[in-house]
Amino acid sequence: MTREFLETKIRRVFDEFSNEEWCDLNSSLLNADSYFATVNQQKYILKYYGAYFCELYGMYEKFIREFKENELTVLSFGCGSGVDCEALNRVIVDLGKNIEINYVGIDIVNWNYRPNFPWATFKTMCASEIKTSDVADVDLFVFPKSLTELSKETRGRIGELISQGSSKEHIFFINTYVTDNAVDGNRVDGIAQFSTINNILKNANWSCSSSPTEYLYKTNGDWLGYNFNFFKLPDELKPFVEKLKVNCQNQDGSSECIKCDIDFIPILNSRYLAFNLLEYKRN
Ligand SMILES: C[S@@+](CC[C@H](N)C(=O)[O-])C[C@H]1O[C@@H](n2cnc3c(N)ncnc32)[C@H](O)[C@@H]1O
Repeated sequence: MTREFLETKIRRVFDEFSNEEWCDLNSSLLNADSYFATVNQQKYILKYYGAYFCELYGMYEKFIREFKENELTVLSFGCGSGVDCEALNRVIVDLGKNIEINYVGIDIVNWNYRPNFPWATFKTMCASEIKTSDVADVDLFVFPKSLTELSKETRGRIGELISQGSSKEHIFFINTYVTDNAVDGNRVDGIAQFSTINNILKNANWSCSSSPTEYLYKTNGDWLGYNFNFFKLPDELKPFVEKLKVNCQNQDGSSECIKCDIDFIPILNSRYLAFNLLEYKRN
């Protein structure tokens, strides 16, 4: 069951995190440089995985319900721990679909906690290094909260390769955007970044069936469980991480410890979700 999967996945990471030293969390922002450290990956997963899994599950569910082919090739840019790959798997299982999937996830960091499916491959590389052979047969490109982390040059390279190298008549994009309040378009990041790719596709005679600058969000921005009935985090997670500093065994009364600010709260609300599913057709 998807609920059981989600809770178990996060509990496994939580169990390892609770035995870690958390001092490094104090100085690092969560970005591509810090994801190399396991403790930052753990914090990222404990904070965001549940919410982002829900969002990606919703997007894949919409896509798979409408996808009529027997084979599906997916390329995910900045796949991180493979949360979108797990969401795709749960959708296929829950919908009882029989589709042959070829999933490739690329990320500059070789994350821990990735799934191990025979149909999924993870490549450690910068997205700017992709080649025509990586995109030629892809039906669905996914940018899971990653557009804001890719440089303009990298996005341009991706757009050029897809526009020139795709062998398909139709291609799709699942984009999930970074936000802390999806109702407010000014607080949704990633849409402007996608326009680099959209402009290249448009100039190369691909047309999008909807406006790529429009995004969707949940009108009920409260607890994720109202929108996703499988949403479940381990009960012990929130009380522990919101008092992480108190739980720290390394505290020695030093000025660094007194100033330390490592407490965090897992994302529990749908207002952090902003997404769209785009279809492009060759003119
Ligand atoms: C915000 S995280 C999203 C991770 C995951 N997709 C999720 O939704 O939880 C962005 C990811 O993009 C990756 N990334 C950043 N720059 C990249 C690049 N140039 N090429 C490939 N991956 C990159 C980071 O390492 C990180 O895993």
